Amino acid sequence: MRKPIIAGNWKMYKTMDEAVAFVEALAGKLKESDKAETVICPPAPYLATLVEKSEGLPIRIGAQTMHEEAEGAFTGEISPAMLKSIGVEFVVIGHSERRQYFNETDESVNRKVKSAFEHQLTPIVCVGETLEQRESNATSAIVSEQVKKAFAGVSETDAASAIVAYEPVWAIGTGRTATAEDANEVCGQIRAVLTELYSDSVAQAIRIQYGGSVKPGNIEELLSMSDIDGALVGGASLDPESFAALAEAGANA
Ligand code: PGA
Repeated sequence: MRKPIIAGNWKMYKTMDEAVAFVEALAGKLKESDKAETVICPPAPYLATLVEKSEGLPIRIGAQTMHEEAEGAFTGEISPAMLKSIGVEFVVIGHSERRQYFNETDESVNRKVKSAFEHQLTPIVCVGETLEQRESNATSAIVSEQVKKAFAGVSETDAASAIVAYEPVWAIGTGRTATAEDANEVCGQIRAVLTELYSDSVAQAIRIQYGGSVKPGNIEELLSMSDIDGALVGGASLDPESFAALAEAGANA
């Protein structure tokens, strides 16, 4: 059985005070449960503080991106070794906004995925098609290609602990969610690609999240699907009330 994983991607929102207040508010609302994992991915300046604030709570902390090198002359970048040294456990890799605005490619995603594993960070590997690609029936081909490239050279043992987030670009921040059936179909295709790359047992171990306008009102249906094991949530993760409801849906799935 795959444990559901609900991750909040705050993107470039909140001040330090708001971030700390969020964790305090969320702590009061989250039920202790080992049935699901709850992850918050705040902006980088708050990572260390939130790692401390979430100690003893059922909340884990992830970064929104990282550089692939352990260290070096890369002004402004944050390395996996740095993330590891402050207690970060997860890192989102290849979010569509990173691909769209910061020139991330399938190749750089692959380098970062491998580097995350080298530093004992769990990557949340994002894939997904644009509206144009969906409308030209290219979804399956695009997503398969993204998965194959992201996992190139990744060992079976590492791959089994990876998380993949299927996020159709047209559903992110738009209020337009893929239907649960459509989302599940693509997540099933992703699992089939992982079976081809590794084995059935590895593919069955990998958790696949859906992301794109997930909210308390639609998460239950999404999580009831056979190949959807969690959610990567932007907008609805910013409010402790709504994020607690999403976490609870994960624990009940
Ligand atoms: P959204 O964002 O939930 O606001 O659509 C999802 C994401 O970007 O991961």
